[in-house]
Amino acid sequence: MDIEQVPSGIDASRAHPARRYDYWLGGKDNFEADRESGRLVAAAFPTIRMSAIENRRFLHRAVRHLTEEAGIRQFLDIGAGLPSAGNVHEIAQEIAPESRVVYVDNDPIVLVHARALLNSSPEGRTAYLEADLNDPEHILGLAGVHETIDLSKPVALMLLAVFHFMVDDEAAHRIFRTLRERLAPGSYIVFSHATSDDLAGDPEEHRKVNNMSGIPFRVRTSAEVAEFMEGLELVEPGVSSLPHWRPNVPERERARPEDICMHGVVARIP
Ligand SMILES: C[S@@+](CC[C@H](N)C(=O)[O-])C[C@H]1O[C@@H](n2cnc3c(N)ncnc32)[C@H](O)[C@@H]1O
Repeated sequence: MDIEQVPSGIDASRAHPARRYDYWLGGKDNFEADRESGRLVAAAFPTIRMSAIENRRFLHRAVRHLTEEAGIRQFLDIGAGLPSAGNVHEIAQEIAPESRVVYVDNDPIVLVHARALLNSSPEGRTAYLEADLNDPEHILGLAGVHETIDLSKPVALMLLAVFHFMVDDEAAHRIFRTLRERLAPGSYIVFSHATSDDLAGDPEEHRKVNNMSGIPFRVRTSAEVAEFMEGLELVEPGVSSLPHWRPNVPERERARPEDICMHGVVARIP
């Protein structure tokens, strides 16, 4: 996107997570500040693009699993990102056309492209809402949420590659608890997060690069990811490197954990 085409309300001079992620995924909805930040991270972690792709693949496998095996028909995807192929409703509605999905993101550029997210099957329904994960009570109270999904019935809450932007541990746990406590028994949480467990280099070096890249970022260990899930039932294989979570390709074709440095988990609310 050229700087002349910046839609109003969007600050193109600073890197934003949605647009930087779009850059890594090969999209066109990003500006020079996003690309500069993306290149900085890629210089320290050259497989970042693979990592973004594996994160999308994890999302696809998790949605497919929940729709096919757990009977989930409602999804709340917070930090949904820019539409690319294979959004939650596209996967779920292919299996169960009546599936309903609410997408939430705080980057106004997502709204500019939200039409792709709103392309629901006639039997189902989708909504896109601009809101901030830092205020989960606000999200849970939004009319657009209640008009689309019924929180008294099981829902899959999708929190993919978004909690590493919740850098303050206490706030991150409060946000997670607030969301989880509002979900009906039988709901699921799908979670992915950057991890230091598999880092080949010095985690301190990576931390410095992340701090310089203009977007505050907090890498967590798999034990720290597991702490969020306390009291929940983990779907096999529990917290694992993304390419190893219920893989659908032979082992020799799976990405190496050290190239991805992201862990994922699917947990059920008892
Ligand atoms: C790395 S992208 C992940 C997109 C998608 N969940 C996926 O896994 O493919 C992170 C997304 O989280 C969004 N995000 C970051 N902080 C947020 C916040 N405080 N509230 C809502 N969305 C946020 C960004 O705008 C971006 O779209």
